[in-house]
Amino acid sequence: MSWVSVLREHEPLFRRAPSAHNTQPWTIDYRADEIVIGVDPARSLPDSDPTGRDLALGMGAFAETCLIVAADAGLCVDCDLSDPRLIRLVAAARRYDTRFHRADVDARRVARGPYAEGLLDLVILAALEPGIVHVRSRALAGELAAADRWMFGTPPVARELRHWLRLDPRDPRYHRDGLTDRALELSRPEARVLAGALRAYPLTRRLGLPALLAAGGRNLLRYDGSVLVLTGEDDDVREAGRRLLRTWLLLGRFGLAVHPLSQLLDCPATAGRLTARVGGRPLAVFRVGHPRHEPDRSARLPPTH
Ligand SMILES: Cc1cc2nc3c(=O)[nH]c(=O)nc-3n(C[C@H](O)[C@H](O)[C@H](O)COP(=O)(O)O)c2cc1C
Repeated sequence: MSWVSVLREHEPLFRRAPSAHNTQPWTIDYRADEIVIGVDPARSLPDSDPTGRDLALGMGAFAETCLIVAADAGLCVDCDLSDPRLIRLVAAARRYDTRFHRADVDARRVARGPYAEGLLDLVILAALEPGIVHVRSRALAGELAAADRWMFGTPPVARELRHWLRLDPRDPRYHRDGLTDRALELSRPEARVLAGALRAYPLTRRLGLPALLAAGGRNLLRYDGSVLVLTGEDDDVREAGRRLLRTWLLLGRFGLAVHPLSQLLDCPATAGRLTARVGGRPLAVFRVGHPRHEPDRSARLPPTH
């Protein structure tokens, strides 16, 4: 059996890789001696991610996940990023050198509910990849409210979010992709209010919906906790995506969960202030902590046939 066929059997596992809005934007083309990973344009986010930053981060995270799964299966595989549009998984002379295993990939998940109070300790901070800046959560609480108001007040961005929300368990896409009410840790009444408000969006926008929805997340950072900012001058943001995935897996090893807050980078005003604060180009922002309850396992598309 070729390495391609063996790795293919692990597709459900490497599909656990994270992606913005859980769009799972990758296409997987199994060939005789390589696996070519491309982008499905129907699963990109042109309005929320116009620069393709999150798409590139997600592609890099996916490639890193594939390499970890391949190494764990005893396969010698490397990735080739020389084509900016594609990632090639190719045969290598030796196994990919990683400290992570399939169990790390399987256990990783985003947690959007409350976290226990407390800052990350220095041992963990010292173990992180280069280019990661620590910020106290309270310092960004007002910024998050501003970014949320921008997000819910910018029609194409709000519309795109609505497209990927799965707020009704009867939605046929509920178990395939997108962000479910459970992933967002919304109660049934909260999910119904959000669904109704977004359905009537042009009207509710005028009625002050952005401020109302932003108020929902007002307390998200009002506790003594840690936010990490991944910075980098990487010419290829996909490399930063690989670092991001390794960072999330490492934090997972310490029992820590993450919650990305990309709106802080998408909103031009808050992005500018965050860049000044961290003194580098921020590529990803996420809070980190011990979640007070176990997050739900997110949906994935079935493997390709
Ligand atoms: C580049 C990137 C940006 C993301 N931005 C956000 C975000 O702004 N807010 C959020 O709640 N989740 C964000 N996520 C998390 C995804 O929504 C999450 O990975 C996806 O729903 C799958 O869930 P899981 O990671 O728990 O498996 C982001 C993930 C990636 C890779």
